[in-house]
Amino acid sequence: MSSDDALARAASKLRDAGRVVVFTGAGVSAESGVPTFRSAANSLWRQVDVANFAYPAGYRRNQPAAWRWYAERAAKAREVAPNAGHHAIVAIEEHVPASLVVTQNIDSLHQRAGSRRVLELHGNLREVRCFECGGRSPWPDLASLPEPVCRECGGLLRPDVVMFEEELPAGAMDEAREWATSCDVLLSVGTSNEVWPATEIPRYASRSGATVVIVNPDLEGQPIGRSIVHLAGKSGDVLPEIVRRAWGVDGGL
Ligand code: OAD
Repeated sequence: MSSDDALARAASKLRDAGRVVVFTGAGVSAESGVPTFRSAANSLWRQVDVANFAYPAGYRRNQPAAWRWYAERAAKAREVAPNAGHHAIVAIEEHVPASLVVTQNIDSLHQRAGSRRVLELHGNLREVRCFECGGRSPWPDLASLPEPVCRECGGLLRPDVVMFEEELPAGAMDEAREWATSCDVLLSVGTSNEVWPATEIPRYASRSGATVVIVNPDLEGQPIGRSIVHLAGKSGDVLPEIVRRAWGVDGGL
């Protein structure tokens, strides 16, 4: 299938859809300047050892460096702006009211773009939480970052994100599964599809008969199948083009 045929198919499926899931990963924020985890020379897991930052035991050991690393990422997430891909996803929701964004991202850029219904599978960088008492508070300012000590109980503070070996937020996978098994179209955007259990979500959709549209400049390792449409390209280019073809409106603004 040529890329033009694939775009036309994706747009027509989306136009006819009553229920849509947009499943996203780090790639959708790449054009905003947020580094991905695995896909480029400056990606996060090439810069730092994942064991020292994204596993609870490593995070505890690697203090205060790991605390500061997340504080810098939280500050960066606040500084950057949503891109054309995020805005196109908002346009999809406006045309298909029964839509849900299921994201692995922790940067809140979908919400800042205007997405109303966002299911965060891996938590967020809006708040910190205490390992011991679970108390939450907003991220302190990077310029005067205190020690990561909970004011209530003296426990170690951490970002309100899901680390490896930890459970996803209660009910999140159930809700994602319900949507994925009942949607007409699932767009899988900017994810390497490597981290379980999120990686199951496009499979639930294709097994339940939905059309799965994959948007990624690098399609290697992505699922294949008759109901799967591959669109090679950046989400900030491809998603506005799908929206334009589906509804004749400019989806990138
Ligand atoms: P990855 O870094 O694994 O994958 C990013 C994907 O985005 C790659 O497939 C890239 O080809 C693609 N990509 C890059 N630029 C893009 C663009 N402009 N438009 C569209 N796609 C683009 O990130 P995730 O799949 O999100 O988990 O990683 C999943 C999880 O692994 C993260 O949530 C995080 C990480 O470890 C935790 O921290 C628990």
